[in-house]
Amino acid sequence: MSGIRHLAAFADLGAEQAARVLGLAHDYKRHGAPALLANKTMGLLFADPSLRTRTSMDQACFRLGGRALGLDVGAGTWKLEVEDGIRMDGDKPEHVREAAPVLSQYVDGIGVRAFSRSGTVDEEDADAVLQAFKHHATVPVLNLESAREHPCQGMADMLTIEEEFGGCRGIKVALSWAPHIKRLPRAVPNSVLLSAAAMGCEVTVAAPVGYELSPGVIAQAEQLAAASGGRVVQTNQQTDALDGCQVLYAKAWGATADSAPPDDPALAEWMPRLSHFDRADPAAVFMHCLPVRRDVEIAAEVLDSRRSRVVSQAGNRLYVQMALLAWLFEQ
Ligand code: CP
Repeated sequence: MSGIRHLAAFADLGAEQAARVLGLAHDYKRHGAPALLANKTMGLLFADPSLRTRTSMDQACFRLGGRALGLDVGAGTWKLEVEDGIRMDGDKPEHVREAAPVLSQYVDGIGVRAFSRSGTVDEEDADAVLQAFKHHATVPVLNLESAREHPCQGMADMLTIEEEFGGCRGIKVALSWAPHIKRLPRAVPNSVLLSAAAMGCEVTVAAPVGYELSPGVIAQAEQLAAASGGRVVQTNQQTDALDGCQVLYAKAWGATADSAPPDDPALAEWMPRLSHFDRADPAAVFMHCLPVRRDVEIAAEVLDSRRSRVVSQAGNRLYVQMALLAWLFEQ
């Protein structure tokens, strides 16, 4: 439906509005916010677990004078089918074609968390669940982490960089792959890259061969960087990214190919330790979206060091989401 704002992906926001939202977030953090959501309810659909997103969204609605209604998909609500043309004889008794417009009659906006199920680039790029909600809902839809993107996280990360350095423009960000025992989705690194490129950061994406981010996301980030005066570089050498970086943002994500490459013990060296900062800017900080597996994905010595911003970064989710809600419901 035309005229309704959605934030299913960064492209729905764009660089100019993202900068506005960051300004609002700074303001709300310093001075509080008006009751912009008075008499409004956000329905928050979670198909996957969450600590930060769930709590900070609930609190963001409350601080804006509204309320949040949390719903666990498949655990208290019906499992949801999003595929069109399918005979629904499996374990999903409700289709998004009904669920989204029905919910739209009860709530004023719908937040959706639904990770990639397969971990494939094709599934991530299609981002079927968010796109289906965007298509069938008649109220604003907000991405709470989908197969392709986690815009609330990417925007909170830019707020954190702005607070640390006084702005994002020209800040050297090393966005590094990190090891993990599971094949994690690429939504967070995708959103960090898109937001940072749009805000003018110089981002070096470092990932081992076979773990590169999707060409579609890289191309979108390059376009955003070209417009913002930022830069996007890719490398398979982590040390290239660490050289002179002001932010080391490390995150695990899965292999690019559908079948993961065989385990390579050398990849454990990608887990950031304090020694990874030897080549960084002396004032460099460490960022991660959380949750994090200590001494698997990131060394505990980094998380516990003066460089770590992971806790304040998570705190900024609240203010950015208040600002995103304000933007979403702006008349
Ligand atoms: N970073 C983040 O989205 O955390 P949760 O998965 O706990 O919401």
